[in-house]
Amino acid sequence: MEACKRVWIDCDPGIDDSFALLLALKHLAVVGISTVGGNTGLEHTFRNARYVTELAGRGEIPVYAGYDLPMIARPERAKHVHGSGGLGNIMVPELKETPPGEHAVDVIIRAFGHPADLTLVTLGPLTNVAQALLKEPELKHRIPEIVCMGGSVTTGNHNACAEFNIAVDPEAARIVFESGIPVRMVGLNLCRQNEMTMSDVKRLKALPGTVAAFAARLLAYSVNQRRQAQLCDACTIAWLIDPAIIPCALPMHVEVETKGEFTRGMTVCDYREYIGTVPGEDIGRKIGYPVETGEKNVLAAMEFDQARFKELLFCTIKSYEV
Ligand code: BDR
Ligand code: CA
Repeated sequence: MEACKRVWIDCDPGIDDSFALLLALKHLAVVGISTVGGNTGLEHTFRNARYVTELAGRGEIPVYAGYDLPMIARPERAKHVHGSGGLGNIMVPELKETPPGEHAVDVIIRAFGHPADLTLVTLGPLTNVAQALLKEPELKHRIPEIVCMGGSVTTGNHNACAEFNIAVDPEAARIVFESGIPVRMVGLNLCRQNEMTMSDVKRLKALPGTVAAFAARLLAYSVNQRRQAQLCDACTIAWLIDPAIIPCALPMHVEVETKGEFTRGMTVCDYREYIGTVPGEDIGRKIGYPVETGEKNVLAAMEFDQARFKELLFCTIKSYEV
């Protein structure tokens, strides 16, 4: 396992964001959390992030609210996937205290005020990060890497081409992918290699404590709807905790489509040089086809060790014991 990495997490909880936070809060040094409108409105994503950190006994970690709406696109939510409040059928109580007044964008700029050993993890639309890059252009030299749940080397979920986080705010995603900051992309091609089932729900239900009960309710909601049971955001955080969970990732040039009639929000991944030589296998591991690509701005996660991921997930939830 890597040494405890320092991370800033931008997210839109969200069922799978919540699992991601529970993993991160146990295994990573979470410096701060910013929230963005995505799966549901900002008022919920902010409140949900606070709720999860409190539940995990980490209420001291600061949570900030950022942008609710995308830069240009009309807002789209995933309430049909995550429930109207974002956490399935769990109703999160109103916050007792007032949220910190500072905007998440300003706090992100300050957190990366100088080149730092701090990884930026994005689990929602990229609006906050793009706005921060516009407000402080020097930021692109100070963020060492972005680990992003978004996009896909193959097909989307929002539609045939686009994955939700990119589709919601393609202009923001383009700014981030073109910024020159190295991006580690956990796309749907990776997340679809994970599938949580009712037997995983039962396993969670059998664990003691309120965190396990919360996780079981969230997962039951997803599995029952047969939507998003891949826990995409948790797969992303897992890469930082135990790199062996993603045994293969390939560097490639990726552009974000912002105009296409059918392809707006697509991550156009140039994997021509990895075209498989085995019949029936589209993408190989090695370079096999000489081609001039653009700069390899993305390291795309390709292969997933599901057994190792589930072991990490269940051990972590069990370890909360509250
Ligand atoms: C992504 O979209 C959201 O619905 C999830 O929280 C995840 O970040 C998967 O496409
Ligand atoms: Ca998310």
